[in-house]
Amino acid sequence: GYSVLLWIGLGYVLGSIPFGVLISMGLKGIDPRKVASRNSGATNVYRTVGWSGAILVALSDVLKSMVPVYYILKVLERPNLAMVVALSCVLGHIWSCFLRFKGGKGIATGAGSLFPFVPYLVIVSIIFWLLITRWTRYAFLASSVCAAVVLVGGVIFSPYPFFGYLALSMGGVILFSHKQNFIRFIQGKEHKI
Ligand code: G3P
Repeated sequence: GYSVLLWIGLGYVLGSIPFGVLISMGLKGIDPRKVASRNSGATNVYRTVGWSGAILVALSDVLKSMVPVYYILKVLERPNLAMVVALSCVLGHIWSCFLRFKGGKGIATGAGSLFPFVPYLVIVSIIFWLLITRWTRYAFLASSVCAAVVLVGGVIFSPYPFFGYLALSMGGVILFSHKQNFIRFIQGKEHKI
């Protein structure tokens, strides 16, 4: 019924909240969309503000999807609705209604939205993300590897019915959101961390 549409809308609006822009502007007066990679995510806020800002942005972008999805999955016990809202949060983050539909890349928000379903997979992915970023200095490589692994793992092991579709669509959208990073990387112009 209507409640499904309301949840999807709420997920989209929550996902759209541009914490990266708000926190970077608030702490340093710098709009991350005008610096380095011009992305508004935690990685680029690390470049503009440093650790404190990056951790704040990562946490807020994780929580804005994790809290509603957790509530729908664990309290309302509606896994299918939780999956749709997980996706709408990530779509909101990437095509934010508060940023003229030019938002971020969906890594932190995607991780938060999947945490209630597959907490261990998300924790392991975060550790791998940090290691790959540390080794290669390219955050987008870490993001893309994690998105691809979660996509394939989700499709193969599908811990909930239909979870494979969520993994496929979310993984696909997040990989697509890194298109410019791939292009810059091939041109040898990709920003390091
Ligand atoms: O999570 C964002 C990361 O994958 C890429 O960020 O700023 O290097 O484009 P950036």
